Amino acid sequence: MAQASFETEWSRINIWLHWLIVLLIIVQYIDSESMVSLWDATQQGTQTAQFTKYVGWGHIAAGSTILVAAFIRLVDRFWTGRPVHPQGVPSWATWLAKITHFLIYAILFVMPSLGLLAWFTGNDTYAQYHTFFWTPLLVLVAVHIIGALAQHFVFKTNVLTRMLTFKKRYRRRGRC
Ligand code: HEM
Ligand code: HEM
Repeated sequence: MAQASFETEWSRINIWLHWLIVLLIIVQYIDSESMVSLWDATQQGTQTAQFTKYVGWGHIAAGSTILVAAFIRLVDRFWTGRPVHPQGVPSWATWLAKITHFLIYAILFVMPSLGLLAWFTGNDTYAQYHTFFWTPLLVLVAVHIIGALAQHFVFKTNVLTRMLTFKKRYRRRGRC
């Protein structure tokens, strides 16, 4: 008998939010230079170009959206469950995936929170910690992408395609 859909599919909202976060992280890479200029100007009490200000505020808006999106994903994941990890994949690979996902989520919460703390308190130490997490995030995302591609091309599972299936039925699922 075919597996029930709740065991094999991500919810639609989870898929859309996954790709929204990917897009916004690219945006954060692009707009970060303006954010740094805006931050420096704010710290020194000087003026910046209007364009820099807008793009800097874009950084704050996009970063806050990432925080909310990650939160909704996590709630959805625990509330409705996530598809089971595939059979036939070495257990070290499944564990590596779990640890990578956990650490990515952790950074997606910690990094924007530190950015907001820095912005609203004016404390540069928070800003430095905020910046510190950028490289670990990139390393984790690189491992994650290699893992997703390995699932598809090496282990030949449906893990990648089920994260790319935008049009599907939403069913309540059972396990985490
Ligand atoms: C996951 C979400 C976010 C990511 C990936 C991100 C990424 C970055 C990056 C790459 C930089 C530039 C670091 C550098 O080159 O020195 C930066 C700077 C900064 N970001 Fe974010 N950011 C995020 C969310 C936020 C939020 C929500 C705020 C809220 C205000 C914020 C405030 C800042 C500030 C103040 C700086 C300047 C730090 C400094 O120059 O020391 N960020 N961010
Ligand atoms: C900034 C980039 C990315 C971030 C922050 C990110 C984050 C995440 C996180 C946290 C999960 C775990 C979901 C959960 O267990 O609740 C996940 C799942 C997944 N991601 Fe990404 N991801 C990124 C880019 C990508 C890319 C580029 C691909 C495709 C090559 C990809 C493919 C997948 C797949 C297939 C899953 C599902 C894994 C499974 O079913 O066990 N991700 N992603």
